[in-house]
Amino acid sequence: MSCDSYSQSSYSCADGRALDLYQGLDPLRLSSVASHFSDQPGQTQAKMASNIRQHVFLFFCIIATSFGQKCGRVDDNHRFDCYPELGASQQKCEARGCCWAPGESWRNNAGVKLDVPYCYYPLDYPGYINGPQTQTNYGLTANLKRTTQSYYPNDIMNLKMDVYFETDTRLRVKIYDPNQSRYEVPIETPPFTFLPSNPMYKVQLSSGQTGFNVIRKANQEVIFNTTIGPGFIYCDQFIQISSSLSSSFVYGLGEHRSSLALPTDWQSFAFWARDQPPSPDVNLYGVHPFYINLESNGDAHGVFLLNSNAMDAILQPAPAITYRTIGGILDFYFFLGPDPIDVVRQYQEVIGMPFMPPMWALGFHLCRWGYGSANGTMAVVERMRQAKIPQDVQWNDIEYSVGRKDFTLNPDTFGNLPTLIADLHANGLHYMPIVDPAISSSQTPGSYPPYDAGVTDNIFTKADDGSIFIGKVWPGDTAFPDWFHPNVTRWWQSQAQTFHNDVSFDGMWLDMNEPSNFVDGRVTGGQPGCTGNNYDNPPFVPGVGGGTLYSKTLCPSAKQNGNIHYNVHSLYGLSEVKVSYTVLANIRKKRPFIISRSTFPSSGKYGGHWLGDNASQWPEMHSSITGILNFNMFGVPMVGADICGFNGDTNEELCTRWMQLGAFYPFSRNHNTLNAKDQDPAIFSKASQDSSRNALHMRYSLLPYLYTLFQRAHVNGSMVARPLFFNFPRDPSLYKVDTQFMLGGAVLVSPVLTQGATSVSATFPPGRWYSNSPEPPLTFNKSTSMSLDAPLGKINIHYRGGYIVPTMAPETTTNATAKNPVMLVVSLDESGNAKGHMYWDDGDEIGSYENGKYSSWSFRAKSNGQQNSVTSSVDYDGFAGSSKMMFKGGIIQGVTANPTTVTLNGQRCNNTYVEHAQLLDVECPPVPFNKPLTLQWD
Ligand code: NOJ
Repeated sequence: MSCDSYSQSSYSCADGRALDLYQGLDPLRLSSVASHFSDQPGQTQAKMASNIRQHVFLFFCIIATSFGQKCGRVDDNHRFDCYPELGASQQKCEARGCCWAPGESWRNNAGVKLDVPYCYYPLDYPGYINGPQTQTNYGLTANLKRTTQSYYPNDIMNLKMDVYFETDTRLRVKIYDPNQSRYEVPIETPPFTFLPSNPMYKVQLSSGQTGFNVIRKANQEVIFNTTIGPGFIYCDQFIQISSSLSSSFVYGLGEHRSSLALPTDWQSFAFWARDQPPSPDVNLYGVHPFYINLESNGDAHGVFLLNSNAMDAILQPAPAITYRTIGGILDFYFFLGPDPIDVVRQYQEVIGMPFMPPMWALGFHLCRWGYGSANGTMAVVERMRQAKIPQDVQWNDIEYSVGRKDFTLNPDTFGNLPTLIADLHANGLHYMPIVDPAISSSQTPGSYPPYDAGVTDNIFTKADDGSIFIGKVWPGDTAFPDWFHPNVTRWWQSQAQTFHNDVSFDGMWLDMNEPSNFVDGRVTGGQPGCTGNNYDNPPFVPGVGGGTLYSKTLCPSAKQNGNIHYNVHSLYGLSEVKVSYTVLANIRKKRPFIISRSTFPSSGKYGGHWLGDNASQWPEMHSSITGILNFNMFGVPMVGADICGFNGDTNEELCTRWMQLGAFYPFSRNHNTLNAKDQDPAIFSKASQDSSRNALHMRYSLLPYLYTLFQRAHVNGSMVARPLFFNFPRDPSLYKVDTQFMLGGAVLVSPVLTQGATSVSATFPPGRWYSNSPEPPLTFNKSTSMSLDAPLGKINIHYRGGYIVPTMAPETTTNATAKNPVMLVVSLDESGNAKGHMYWDDGDEIGSYENGKYSSWSFRAKSNGQQNSVTSSVDYDGFAGSSKMMFKGGIIQGVTANPTTVTLNGQRCNNTYVEHAQLLDVECPPVPFNKPLTLQWD
């Protein structure tokens, strides 16, 4: 059966079925729509109108052909679930006007039962009919109307759809109630300014029909198509919309533990921030309703649903996606890429670019719960010093406090914490304490200022009856700051400042901010619980962990500055990190560094994230890679997992391997739980210490490269850690690689992830690759997997031909490393070329880039027999310290003969040539780095 026969006046599928899609459609209006969306100059409006007819016709024809009428022949993959709640039956299904046919079921890897929906929508299920569309100065608008009620309460029968053509690559579609305002997520998004001149997309919306399409104009690929899902429902507390996907390669949708390329076998992803150690099939700490989808030709687009209510997204094999959210509005952004990395950049243009970390944050962080005391903490710092293992930051967990209360210091065990911090500071290290949001509410009045002042400033979240909402967290009964309250910054600043006067912390570790609660809901009369109202118990509850919205958190009926918690729950972490960023900047007058457990789109503007309470097990180390890559897609590049694992005891082999991998996490922190065996790298054997030291030395030597990557992310949203295919987007063999990753465009990390292994299977994308240990270069014309030697002490790192990576000789702190001369690792490609760049500033000042107090350089290498040189030019020189920076050579890889002379700006350098590795190691008398440089070899 084919759908390729049609004629202008009569539409008929190849099987003879006729479809009259445009009956009653005004031909003039169609022409004007066509003119609005015309993508080819000179194309007549009539031709365009005909194209639109043809396109929409073909689509409907395909649907009708493959589905058959009503319930008849809907194939399994195209069933859209009409009974997502538990307890479906034929009777209940048919009462909804849907079709019932038991289908296949199976269990996924995590043992969760998945099945083809037994209850599914018939093709003629009544939905919203599009009214005529009107052109606006921002795009177009249309009214949508339904005439029959759905099966959920409070249908909004009339909707409005506003389409904003925001930029050439970005489209926004808002579907909302024009008659009554509804909750909208209060993150800052770019204001609409102008109609783009050459949008890469067009939107199809046919009057009298249902749904809309978003199409990539260049090749007519339909990237979003809501006409396929017959169950578009928009009730007060149940909004459901489905769309086709361009392929089954879908990425993102956080925060979940899953594979890098998400499964499309009916798994449901719930969105609702939750204190939940990472495990498959449950909603975790943060919420990121953003996905990237690859298209048939390798182009990529992204879709962001800006909605913070509890939600499910279901991926099915059609491939298609269904969203079910229980509040707010439908506010979609589409990003046209066309490369995945462009999509992420375009996404961050909406949610905000990542914060610029202080340089020290790029060093190694050490933490655990269970040092016992400041002395116990200091003993480990000493152990690290003795072992000469790099460390930049020491952390403490809740044990430093009295009764686990924020902003208190236990005088018995941590009384000398200020001395410890002074020692750290004197040695160029920094200090991070944990800070939980929940504030003890049960202290004697007058004895605990954070609570008393919070009451006075009225900043606590309220219960539905207006009293302070009380839950239970570490200190017992607690109140929860309302981070939306206008007084909250003043209050938080005053508490943090008072504490900082004694304990001069450098950053903040924001834990438990989902917000986590040890009971379900509010404690009243000693008992936890919530009201029976529609917020605490809505008609539909997405598949959230615990089964209720208040499981291990506040009651959704709680109130935050005029909002119900129901709407803003998943913004708790974001709102806390935003306030804390301001407070920390005010207190220290230096660049803030904050790590937050709960995140939402735009969290990356204010802080980083760690992946939460993982376990000390090999598979957890593996899944950390996907977690890190996902957060780099979510605009939170400063991300890492607890190295060596948090829950349970690690062992030397696992921890050695994890230190090797973790040395290349953008955020590199080893953290351990209470009562588990020590796992700092200095506790293990000499061989293990050597391995961790080596891996961290590699990290520290890459400091200028890493810092430059973070600056690029901060300025233009390019990613720090990337899946391989983000650098090679047209290579399908890389679409699922989740055992390796790249830092920027140049560094490939291939860790060992299995116990007992002494080799690792690594995939190399096409091009030339140079190992970090002198080995013959590898050159491939297509992606190739091969086994690499990986004895216990070794992590395989490869530099990509064509790139120049700035490095410095590593020391035990970033502070000391940053004083060393710059050295370039030049990796020539097959044609003898390479390029790179570097960004540098004082590392701690706020707004160095924005205020022009930075320097930047470009590097170029050319080696063609006649000319063999590397040049460095200063692009901008606003960093006052650049005059003290020196340069002294580096490594040039891909040099095929031992040169007779090597010079830097005409002065002779020392060099060593390693023939089998084609490696030229150059050491020159240091010269100023803020002047043009030419390194030559002949
Ligand atoms: C939960 C956090 O995820 C973990 O990292 C921390 O150690 C404990 N809370 C104790 O504060």
